[in-house]
Formats: sequence, C-alpha cells, structure tokens
Amino acid sequence: MRPVTTETAQTPHDLIGGAPVFEAIANRFYDLMEQDAAYAELRAMHAEDLGPMRKSLPRFLAGWAGGPRDWFEANPGKCMMSLHKDFAIDRQTAAQWADAMTRAIADVAPEPAHIAQAMTEVLSRMARGMTRP
Ligand code: HEM
Repeated sequence: MRPVTTETAQTPHDLIGGAPVFEAIANRFYDLMEQDAAYAELRAMHAEDLGPMRKSLPRFLAGWAGGPRDWFEANPGKCMMSLHKDFAIDRQTAAQWADAMTRAIADVAPEPAHIAQAMTEVLSRMARGMTRP
C-alpha cells in the first residue's frame, strides 16, 4: 500500500467534488432560507440581497474543507465564531441554520456519503455553538 503523504492525501474538498458541490449546497441552503417559512427568523437576520452570501459561503466552505483558501486570504485573521459574535443568535435561529444546512446537504447528496454526513454533523455543531447565552 502506498503511504499517505501530504502529496497523496486527498482533502474532503476534493473527495466530495470541489467548488461545484459547495456552490450547489450554498444555493440550496439560501433557496430554503428564502422559500420555507420555517426559516423566517433566520432569513430576517440576513440582508435583503442574499447574492453576496451565495458567493461567500461556498468559498468559506471550500477553504474550510481543505480546498482553495481565497475566502481566508480575503478575510485575514477572521474566524467564523468571532465574525458572528455581534449577531443575536439564539437557540431558534441556530437550530434553523443547522436544519436548513442539513437539508441542503441531503438534497445535493454529494458522495462519498460518509464525508457528507461528517460535514453535516460538524456544521450543525458549529451553528449551535454560536448560540448566545
Ligand atoms: C448559527 C446560526 C447562524 C446565523 C443566525 C448566521 C447569520 C449570519 C448573518 C446575519 C450574516 C451576515 C450576512 C448578511 O448580512 O446578509 C452571516 C454571514 C456569514 N455566515 Fe453566518 N450565521 C450562522 C451560522 C453560520 C455558520 C455555522 C457558518 C459557517 C460554517 C456561517 C457562515 C457565514 C459566512 C461565510 C458569512 C459571510 C461572511 C463574509 O464573507 O463576510 N454562518 N451569518
């Protein structure tokens, strides 16, 4: 068996299909946020135009999953938790984010399924971790 090195190891970003998959997930996520009244409170926290978020979220997710780091280079030193610290995120809006993201990933259904599942779990946990006390 070939040893896994930094040259041969594939990132979650590459394994799951790269930029088009993260774009599909983000677009589905914001479509759900716009169309399903179950996410009304989450939608109300965002700007009227979700266009910038449809560009920003997939770039963040791609870099976070080990792909191109342009979002991180454009936002030096910023972490997702501190970026959200001024938003009034409560249990309801954090749960709405986690639920819409879980549905978005399930609807896009990228392969391999175990990476999609791990991504769903970690993102849901991250969203719930942003809840203000
Ligand atoms: C916990 C529930 C969350 C709420 C209520 C929330 C809400 C928001 C809001 C209101 C904005 C500003 C966007 C605008 O003004 O239109 C924003 C930006 C953003 N959020 Fe969240 N967010 C949550 C969780 C997350 C999580 C878990 C991630 C990533 C894993 C994330 C990724 C982003 C990104 C990438 C931006 C744009 C930052 C930028 O590029 O400037 N959010 N979020």
